[in-house]
Amino acid sequence: MRVYFDYNATTPLTPEVADAVAAASRDLFGNASSVHYFGQRAKAAIDEARSAVAALLGGDPSEIVFTSGGTEADNFALRGVADAAEASGRRHLVASAIEHEAVLNTLKALARRGWRTTLVPVDQSGVVAVDRVRAALDDTTAIVSVMHANNEIGTVQPIAAIARAAHERGALMHTDAVQSAGKIVVDARALDVDLLSVSAHKFNGPKGAGALWIRRGTRVLPILTGGKHERNRRAGTENVPAIVGFGVAARQALGKIDTDAARVGALRDRLEREILARVPGTAVNGDPAARVPNTTNISVDRVEAESLLIALDLEGIAVSTGSACSSGTLEPSHVLRAMGFPSHRTQNSIRMSLGAFSTDAEVDRVLDVLPGIVEKLRNLTRRTA
Ligand SMILES: Cc1ncc(COP(=O)(O)O)c(C=O)c1O
Repeated sequence: MRVYFDYNATTPLTPEVADAVAAASRDLFGNASSVHYFGQRAKAAIDEARSAVAALLGGDPSEIVFTSGGTEADNFALRGVADAAEASGRRHLVASAIEHEAVLNTLKALARRGWRTTLVPVDQSGVVAVDRVRAALDDTTAIVSVMHANNEIGTVQPIAAIARAAHERGALMHTDAVQSAGKIVVDARALDVDLLSVSAHKFNGPKGAGALWIRRGTRVLPILTGGKHERNRRAGTENVPAIVGFGVAARQALGKIDTDAARVGALRDRLEREILARVPGTAVNGDPAARVPNTTNISVDRVEAESLLIALDLEGIAVSTGSACSSGTLEPSHVLRAMGFPSHRTQNSIRMSLGAFSTDAEVDRVLDVLPGIVEKLRNLTRRTA
């Protein structure tokens, strides 16, 4: 039996998404910019997907710009606002210390261009304090970027309150909702943000498709130069099958968001509760209440997370040490570090993230296998110490 508990890295397609992608790859080969029948069919399919993604985010279809994924959406938000704001003298960016690399490394790139950047710390539960954001703002701040849900620990941030603080100082507000969209209700207007990033492959859509929601009237310059696609906001021939699949995934996610959140949340809670009960020396990282329902991040005392991950993989169980990007390296998690954990705890934490196809049987399998593996690894370190 194979167990996949790494939904925050990526998710499998639903059969409906897979069918829609296959059909679009076969039948909708036209260039959506072409005026003829083939082009117009492709354009109509993109527009239908645009409506579905807008509905998922509580926005208007005209506010959705399709991108190649979450990374590009984050880059577009930050670089696009920076380019538009530069002339006004606003050259300061604020983000939380636990953002995804797509945001953090974009901040670094803008810093090399002369922008000032401030990273706001989080408390030990991984939550950004609104007052700390307020204290970081000044009259030159162009944009504040704080993620809606964190990819490693699942913590959900008080975005609406942070957005209010940003707006009070005349700054724009961006949120990376890549890990919340499709899992919990994401309403861009209720969150009071100006820009919001999403990615299809985090909720059973295809890889290589994402979107930036841009509130009407927000000044953002395109970051790709080229043709007039996406109403002059994102140049490049549209990836029609991926966008179509994105639309189907968005519609499906919206249709079952409450039932799925409850079902997946119950699985996650049982998994977590039983691990804490059966494996001594374990603790949950992150706020237990303010988080997405599918994610748990657990520290296992005296066990290297990488060894645990490999041992679980040998038993057919796929988990992660955190963000997919930092797996494969031994770098401690920047998220757990920002939460103030000592280095041993940042090195002994694993993330389990569940999703649409997760089952009770998978939870049972992990609960059967994990205690023995942990004991074996601890005995090994004891013997070699
Ligand atoms: C919070 C967050 N933002 C952005 C991304 C990047 O999205 P994509 O893989 O679509 O480029 C990820 C993916 O891991 C993520 O978890």
